[in-house]
Amino acid sequence: MSNATHTALVLPDEIARRRTFAIISHPDAGKTTLTEKFLLYGGAIQMAGQVRAKGEARRTRSDFMQMEKDRGISVSASAMSFDFDGYRFNLVDTPGHSDFSEDTYRTLTAVDAAVMVIDGAKGVESQTRKLFEVCRMRDLPILTFCNKMDRESRDTFDIIDEIQENLAIDVTPASWPIGVGRDFVGCYDVINDRLELMDRADRNKVAGSIKINGLEDPKLAEHVPAHLLDQLKEELEMARALLPAFDRQAFLDGTMTPIWFGSAINSFGVQELMAGIAKFGPEPQVQKATPRPISPDETKVMGYVFKVQANMDPKHRDRVAFVRLASGHFKRGMKLTHVRTKKPMAISNPVLFLASDRELAEEAWAGDIMGIPNHGQLRIGDTLTEGEDIRVTGIPSFAPELLQTVRAGDPMKAKHLEKALMQFAEEGAAKVFKPAIGSGFIVGVVGALQFEVLASRIELEYGLPVRFDASQFTSARWVTGPKAEMDKFINTNKQHISYDHDGDPVFLTRLQWDIDRIQRDYPTLTLSATKEMM
Ligand code: G4P
Repeated sequence: MSNATHTALVLPDEIARRRTFAIISHPDAGKTTLTEKFLLYGGAIQMAGQVRAKGEARRTRSDFMQMEKDRGISVSASAMSFDFDGYRFNLVDTPGHSDFSEDTYRTLTAVDAAVMVIDGAKGVESQTRKLFEVCRMRDLPILTFCNKMDRESRDTFDIIDEIQENLAIDVTPASWPIGVGRDFVGCYDVINDRLELMDRADRNKVAGSIKINGLEDPKLAEHVPAHLLDQLKEELEMARALLPAFDRQAFLDGTMTPIWFGSAINSFGVQELMAGIAKFGPEPQVQKATPRPISPDETKVMGYVFKVQANMDPKHRDRVAFVRLASGHFKRGMKLTHVRTKKPMAISNPVLFLASDRELAEEAWAGDIMGIPNHGQLRIGDTLTEGEDIRVTGIPSFAPELLQTVRAGDPMKAKHLEKALMQFAEEGAAKVFKPAIGSGFIVGVVGALQFEVLASRIELEYGLPVRFDASQFTSARWVTGPKAEMDKFINTNKQHISYDHDGDPVFLTRLQWDIDRIQRDYPTLTLSATKEMM
């Protein structure tokens, strides 16, 4: 993982068949619908509509875990595992709202590939572009699904051009749409020389797939109206001349994306996309770590926390840490070392998100995602090993872009507030800074919506009404450097210094000029807008 060079390892079958990925898209492009169809074909749900019907409907399902019932932990959609064609798919959900970009970034550190869903009429939208950029930072391989082809959509070449130009990535057609809107009849499967016809009558039924012997096969004419067939042949000829052919290495390196056209709501094109994920991969990748990278085929179990989700039940403080296994074969009950604290942890009740039959994980392999219920020991960036002192890297914390002071409505409850804030800081939901001078806390977030979410969670989970107010600061930078210089710096800038929840010093200011001045005055200090979580 997170390694630009996708090396060809020979992995044990159990690991080689794993595909761990996320879906990125602009709201409304069809992520939920596509997820649902993945689960449908993965045998994880029996009918469409179950993903959307979260909450109560799910809670009454008989196979719903007792632990979740008791504690109300809502982990349902964070990670989902299902089988397809002999492959184990692990689909990790990315938060939808742009305000949670940091969370999204960290989620994308736990996957080996991403499916980019775009709306055939709208093309590349703002959120698609942002999420794509995050994938690019990590050279993640991307498969593209152009959705809603049953509606009036743009010209196929236009869509492909837009992706190539907007996102600076080569696009190669894995399928080619035949007709548009009402006239859309299906796709020509470029990879397998097959004709895929869409059945508009039954949205949950996979339509016929007809094996074709190249574009001159007379069978084509039996299924496709003559004018559409002529157009298809002409377009495919142009596509072959103008667009690059599929190159697996370029795909794995993140410089080429294969595109499938389809209609998630009509279950059309979804299986072909899934077959593409299965066939082209990638397999679980090497994970960056210090002092050495972790290879998925190592026999010792290693994993890292990329997300922590707090319990929504105010009566409990339990959380679920989402762990991506980087190597090995995990078995329930294993004792792992929590590298940050060097303490052993018995992992006795991990949750595997096998959507068909959510159950305690008896075993998991490199590439899998496990939920580990805990009382706060596990933080984002933590590594678990069988004893080795190794830490996964590349899971950043970003300097907040919005800072506000927070206080409890009831001043007697300041201690409670501190506890609540620390929990959210550890969960990664906010940055919490304790000023070196004075009392109170400064909370930093990336998007304004997070303040609202925080305020309501503190009230709901801790029974504490709180107030957020404007702070005099607008920027935060972590400061590191030699001790003597740090002491001098901190003493002369006390009114700008705060400490984060790890106790690391942070410089707060409202002026970029201040940051530049300090870099000039203290050349041995580093002011950083990101911090490794480990
Ligand atoms: P999101 O998670 O990316 O936000 O998108 P979601 O799947 O919720 O889909 C957004 C809307 O687009 C939904 O309609 C959904 O039914 C529709 N949609 C998804 N795939 C297709 C497709 O292939 N063709 C067409 N025509 N529509 C599609 P909605 O009206 O917002 O919701 P609903 O009333 O259908 O549930």
